[in-house]
Amino acid sequence: MDKVVIVTGATSGIGQETARYFAEKGATVVGVGRSKERGEQLEQSSEDLSGSIDFYQVDVGKEEEVEQFIKKIMTTYEKVKVLFNNAGVADVALGPLSRVSDEEWDRLFHINLKSIYYMVNHSERLFGKNAAIVNNAAIVGTHKYPSALPAYSAAKAGVVALSKSMASRYAKRKIRVNAISPGPIDTPLARKLYGSEEGFQKAFKQHPRGSFGTPLEVAKAVYFLSSEDASYINGHNLVIDGGYTLS
Ligand SMILES: NC(=O)c1ccc[n+]([C@@H]2O[C@H](COP(=O)([O-])OP(=O)(O)OC[C@H]3O[C@@H](n4cnc5c(N)ncnc54)[C@H](OP(=O)(O)O)[C@@H]3O)[C@@H](O)[C@H]2O)c1
Repeated sequence: MDKVVIVTGATSGIGQETARYFAEKGATVVGVGRSKERGEQLEQSSEDLSGSIDFYQVDVGKEEEVEQFIKKIMTTYEKVKVLFNNAGVADVALGPLSRVSDEEWDRLFHINLKSIYYMVNHSERLFGKNAAIVNNAAIVGTHKYPSALPAYSAAKAGVVALSKSMASRYAKRKIRVNAISPGPIDTPLARKLYGSEEGFQKAFKQHPRGSFGTPLEVAKAVYFLSSEDASYINGHNLVIDGGYTLS
């Protein structure tokens, strides 16, 4: 696969696995995150893959950083084929609504939702025909609404709506935009969310299939949605949860 692929939140979990999966398939991956240390590890881990991963330190919740990043990559790459807007946090704005501060609410919305608007607006010119954007939402945006995740759920619902709106805007340019809504996936974010190893293991085993999803299972779905095999799939929200929301 001779493609330039941008993955945000590539320094951990789902994004890291997706960056590596695309690079394994030969893509030129631009991995984005805030942690320089984990970014360098990501680059090193790609050395034996058929493609490559270059790390860029960017806070996607800050428009000026996104703008500078896109300007920088424009000098290196002519066109971008795939953008996976994946960066997200769940450790701010936690707890019932009454305990969520205005500042936390805004911080979560900037990173989990507004970052997609920043990324897409600034990178628009970089997309050629038959490009694909995949935005990472979550089942709590459209299927389950835990009381402890009000801002997270609302932002993720926004990701789905924004994806559909963008899909309709870019259809004529042949840029497809889809959302994914993973159920629980075994990543550092999910482990922190369950509070303790005990809480995490309990939830893990209660999943209908006996285990959470893996980052690789999500990466494969992102790869499919970005590929020509999904050429007629546009504006879709793909639930990836192993049947978690069925019962
Ligand atoms: N795990 C789940 O159960 C689950 C379920 C549904 C949806 N999701 C969604 O999947 C996405 C990835 O989550 P994950 O579970 O893989 O979590 P993770 O392991 O904590 O990874 C999150 C990634 O996002 C990056 N990130 C966070 N804030 C950022 C910022 N301001 N700027 C740039 N990068 C930022 C982190 O990098 P740095 O720390 O280096 O900045 C990290 O690479 C999130 O959008 C999450 O909401 C996860």
